[in-house]
Amino acid sequence: MPLNDRLLALPKVDLHVHLEGTITPAMAQKLAARNGLAHAPELLAADGESFRWEADDTAAGALVGFLKAYDAATGVMKTAQDYSDITYDYLKRAAAEGCIYAELTISADHGQQVGLTYPQMLDAITKGFDKAKAESGIEIRMISTAVRHYGPAEALKVGRITHDNPHPLVTAFGLAGDENAYTMADFEPAYAAAALPYRTAHAGEASGPSTVRSAREVLKVRRFGHMVRAIEDADVMAEQKAINAVPEVCVSSNMALGVYKTYAEHPLRKFFDAGLKVTLGSDDPTFFGTSIGREYQIAQEHFGFTDAELLQVSRNAIEEAFVDEATRAKLLRRIDAYTAD
Ligand code: ADE
Ligand code: ZN
Repeated sequence: MPLNDRLLALPKVDLHVHLEGTITPAMAQKLAARNGLAHAPELLAADGESFRWEADDTAAGALVGFLKAYDAATGVMKTAQDYSDITYDYLKRAAAEGCIYAELTISADHGQQVGLTYPQMLDAITKGFDKAKAESGIEIRMISTAVRHYGPAEALKVGRITHDNPHPLVTAFGLAGDENAYTMADFEPAYAAAALPYRTAHAGEASGPSTVRSAREVLKVRRFGHMVRAIEDADVMAEQKAINAVPEVCVSSNMALGVYKTYAEHPLRKFFDAGLKVTLGSDDPTFFGTSIGREYQIAQEHFGFTDAELLQVSRNAIEEAFVDEATRAKLLRRIDAYTAD
């Protein structure tokens, strides 16, 4: 559904988006052809316009099934040009919907599966970004992210590679993948090795409130990928509120992966009304049939967010973005320039 003119003009921020999760089915087919690959037909739905994956009925099972498809889709990428193209393609689409800033979750492990070293992957992403920025002014930073189910030893390697190859746009370290694999403590060495100023971690998505607590206590994060299942424990909610926690909420992702069956069950509105510093993310937009514009639209249509409240969500995101203060101030000015109702 197209965004109305006011919503289109409203400055948006996508703090939670996995780069390989932005490949469109059309791009996947284009890259498969370009790279001489038989594009796994089981990856695409019958209409050829969306991805499909096997999932059981539980949130944990759905995530694992989805992550397999995610890895398979990455399999159509083979070159640095492919990384540049998906980066440009995503940023162009996001900017056209009024996105002024995105934080790309990037994965050295996936880059390696494509056949690129971490510096080669960063260089390719930066080329795609430079082109998009020249056209639209969109700004980005990157979160170098370890994949939980690849294990703590692999995560430590990602932490070290991140540390040994500093890049001005890589400002944070993160943790994604199967939330039920290993413990948060197993990944602290990876964060320590990366030694970046900012941290985030997926928690409270496929697993319950206790992962949120341990992400906070063990990894010392204040920004959380998802965090929605914190709602199941009043004590965890109070603890999160006490640190002014920042949830990166991805509604369509949660629906697609069966964390919630209906919008009415989703805690987005409860989080906002509880005074949590809510931000929005598209997570893996092309897999979940969404975009950052659509996430703002869903917040408005299904959760009653006014334009002023959506602008507050964007302001929250820039205030908590993993950027230097000069860039933050510049982005806040773009938000202030929009007059809400
Ligand atoms: N990797 C890509 N998307 C993810 C998600 N929604 N949760 C955990 N890991 C992911
Ligand atoms: Zn995610």
